[in-house]
Amino acid sequence: MGFPARRLRRLRRTEVLRRMVRETVLGVDDLMAPLFVREGIDQPVPITSLPGQYQHTVPSLVAEVQRLASVGVPGIMLFGVPAAKDPEGSAAWDPDGIAQRALGEVASAVGDQVVLAADLCLDEYTDHGHCGILRPDGTVDNDTTLERYQKVAVAQARAGAGVVAPSGMMDGQVAAIREGLDAEGFQTTAILAYAAKYASALYGPFRDAVDVTIAGGGNRHAYQQQPANRREALAEVALDVAEGADMVMVKPANPYLDILSDVRAAVDVPVSAYQVSGEYAMVMAAAERGWIDGPAVAMEQLTSIKRAGADFILTYFAADVAEALGG
Ligand code: PBG
Repeated sequence: MGFPARRLRRLRRTEVLRRMVRETVLGVDDLMAPLFVREGIDQPVPITSLPGQYQHTVPSLVAEVQRLASVGVPGIMLFGVPAAKDPEGSAAWDPDGIAQRALGEVASAVGDQVVLAADLCLDEYTDHGHCGILRPDGTVDNDTTLERYQKVAVAQARAGAGVVAPSGMMDGQVAAIREGLDAEGFQTTAILAYAAKYASALYGPFRDAVDVTIAGGGNRHAYQQQPANRREALAEVALDVAEGADMVMVKPANPYLDILSDVRAAVDVPVSAYQVSGEYAMVMAAAERGWIDGPAVAMEQLTSIKRAGADFILTYFAADVAEALGG
């Protein structure tokens, strides 16, 4: 009679039916929380462009990691904000540098209850804001930077990081870091490679969070990937896995779900995605104006990231989502 034989709406009729046929379930185990610790402050400082996020003191960081653990969030990614920056970013590998001191305190407070990952880069520590060592002409010197990354990795592992996460997009960074860690006896320290990391305008609020301004109005186009390229992400990921990455990441997340889906299909290591500061800030700002339902949009976006292939997601919503999920 011309009526449809297959009626997909049958399985959408009740909440319990929809629950039964749900293909993607976001759980607390899928979450990793990015956290900031700043040297030289005695109270946590709210980050204006990331409502609800703070530059922590070491004690407030420890308390926040304990709170995340109590709601079941399995991992954190730590960023350090030093009191003083220099051309080389030497506080990044100083055993007494802020990230190392914080890692030590957090590790002794929570032990193996939480996966402690440390972002491994120089931009928070250099006075010019680039992710590596500059040549006299102002370009980033790849291989000199790799030697510094080896030192940072060892300092972070020694301080208590179980995972180091190189985010500088230098060629060969995973191999160099693996070699550096192994040479110092850190064979069990894992590498989470920011493998397909794009030169995105969505990192704006993060740069407020870590007090980074790229010298001379510069940018990272000479080392991060250009947003227009899809195949190139697979080349980045293949190299990182061949160099020894234990896990890989796609970043940002929501605008790059095609990349995430490609990467998931191409490798057998765990794949993560980073819902970055600008993605979080846009949801928070629109919600603040009453234009969208913030928690609902956050859940929709995170579910989409998981549906596209992420095994876990770095997100500033981690604590809120864990609480909402009843953690
Ligand atoms: C580099 C780094 C950045 C982010 C994570 N690691 C900034 C950059 O590449 O400029 C961005 C994270 C975010 O926006 O939430 N250390």
